[in-house]
Formats: sequence, C-alpha cells, structure tokens
Amino acid sequence: MFVATKTLLHKAQQHHYAVPHFNVNNMEIVQGVVQAAVEARSPIILATSQGAIEYAGMQFLHAIVSTAAQTSGVPIALHLDHGTDLDIIKHAIDIGYSSVMIDASHFDFEKNVALTSKVVKLAHAKGITVEAELGTIGGVEDAVSSRHILYTDPAKAVEFVKRTKCDFLAVAIGTSHGAYKFKGTAKLRLDILGKIKKHVSIPLVLHGASGVPPSLVTMAEKYGAKLKGVEGVPDIQIKAAIKTGICKVNTDTDLRIAFDAAVRKVIKEQPQDFDPRHMLGPARELIKDVARKRMKLFGSENRC
Ligand code: G3H
Ligand code: 13P
Ligand code: ZN
Repeated sequence: MFVATKTLLHKAQQHHYAVPHFNVNNMEIVQGVVQAAVEARSPIILATSQGAIEYAGMQFLHAIVSTAAQTSGVPIALHLDHGTDLDIIKHAIDIGYSSVMIDASHFDFEKNVALTSKVVKLAHAKGITVEAELGTIGGVEDAVSSRHILYTDPAKAVEFVKRTKCDFLAVAIGTSHGAYKFKGTAKLRLDILGKIKKHVSIPLVLHGASGVPPSLVTMAEKYGAKLKGVEGVPDIQIKAAIKTGICKVNTDTDLRIAFDAAVRKVIKEQPQDFDPRHMLGPARELIKDVARKRMKLFGSENRC
C-alpha cells in the first residue's frame, strides 16, 4: 500500500529505527527490494532520482512502484531524490509521489532557504512532504574518491528548518555518494549529528550510506569489474548514526554493485545464453538479498 513518507518517518523516529530508502531505476530493482520488504515485514521508501526519471520516465516509474505498493501488502512511499529541477518537482507532486526532495545544498544558505521554502509551499498545498539538505554530501567526480564535504552546521540547521518549514532534513556528517567514500579510516561526525538532533525535531536523513560490502565487491571483481579502492560506511557506524537520531537511510550504490555482479556472473559463466531474463532474474535475487540485509541493519524488520 502507498503511504505518506511522513507517517513512516515519524513512526521510525518514535521507535528508534530507520526506514530504508532505496534508489530504483527499473522493474527488477523495484521487485527485488519489495520482495525483501515483504519477507522482512519492513516499510520502505522507493526513490527515483532525476537521472532515473530521465532513464525510465516518471510515469513508468510511478506505475511500477504503485503496482508494487498495491500488491505487496507492505507500506511503500515513493520519493523524488535530489530534486533540483522545479518542473520535475512539480510533476512529481502532481503525479502522486509521496514526498519530494529539494536539493539546493550547493547554493549559499539564503538561496537554499529561498528555493526550499518555495518547494515546501508548492508541496504542502497538495499535502506532500519535503526533504531538504543543508551542508554538502560528497560525491564521486571521477573514478577515484573525490569528496567535497561541508559538514552541516547545527545552529544553521535550526534556523533552516524554522524558516523553510521542511519536513525532513538531510545532514552532511561525512558520508558521500558512490563507491569511493573514504580514503583511510571511515569516520562519521556523530558529534555533529548529536548536536543537530538535540535542537531539530524533524526526521533526519543520511545520504551516501551504502556499505559497499566486500563480498559483493569480490563477486563483481571475480567476473571482471574493476573496483579498486572502493569503501563504504561500516555497519557499526550506520547503527551508531541511527542511535544518534537518523531515521531514513539512503542506499543506491550497494544495489548497483549487486546488480552488476549478478549480471556479470551470468555473462561470464553462460556466454551462449542471450536471454535477458537469465541475467536480470539473478540480479533481482541479489538485490533482494542486499536489501534484506539493509533492513536488518536499520532495525526496520517486523515494523508492519
Ligand atoms: O544520490 C544519488 C543517487 O545515487 C542517484 O544517482 O543521479 O546517478 O541516479 P543518479
Ligand atoms: P549511496 O551512493 O551511498 O548508495 O547513497 C545513495 C543516496 O544517498 C541516494 O540519495
Ligand atoms: Zn543522496
């Protein structure tokens, strides 16, 4: 069933676990994640980035996710991830997304406040909630880790939430998007998170949270992937972040590596087989396995 993102996150906040946010781009990823949620009895947020929308089409993604929501029996929210384009944000609100993210974190504070406030007004008028971002979560800019992280300032976070009236806040505490998150020791700034949590009452979101599990990396590399130097957020730090106040955790990279590893395996081991279902079926299974492990880690199992 389709549910409001706010309902999922407020319940998670109250009971000290995190709702898994998974990025989805196609039917097999949606099915793998949803099958895991059904087995685990976990609520989930399925998210489409603007890149996913460009790839698959918003209407297709909405249709796939709403079919999954109608047939699965677990609470599912559909979320626009890292919205930067106002037309796409408006379209998502109109088509029936549960929530949207406005990511104006690359602008200065005042412009971020202005753009976020604008989206909040548009979305709230239609009963849709808004995630915003303050600080800068790093990202991959080339094959190697290239991070530019500007930690969220706790005092600014209080002012930002008060002025924009956003519903959920993505914080920058040392994570970055992609598979190359750390050079050396992985370290999240839980001290900063603790200060934000103390003064900000809305649900807090952790982006760039993939664990990049060594077993998946080994599998992908065995069948030809080149992933030297990849590093994710250790499980123990994800747990600590949830304990400190995070109640939505975003995962994309782990699903990508799983998909990649499974497809590579079939291509390498069965070179005579050209049936796409024989590649995408195992990819869906491995996605399910990865999603299931994330649910266990986040404490979202048996919450519905
Ligand atoms: O946060 C970013 C997600 O991993 C989406 O990535 O823009 O390549 O779809 P994408
Ligand atoms: P990862 O790249 O760590 O999976 O992060 C995904 C994300 O934050 C999507 O918004
Ligand atoms: Zn993100």
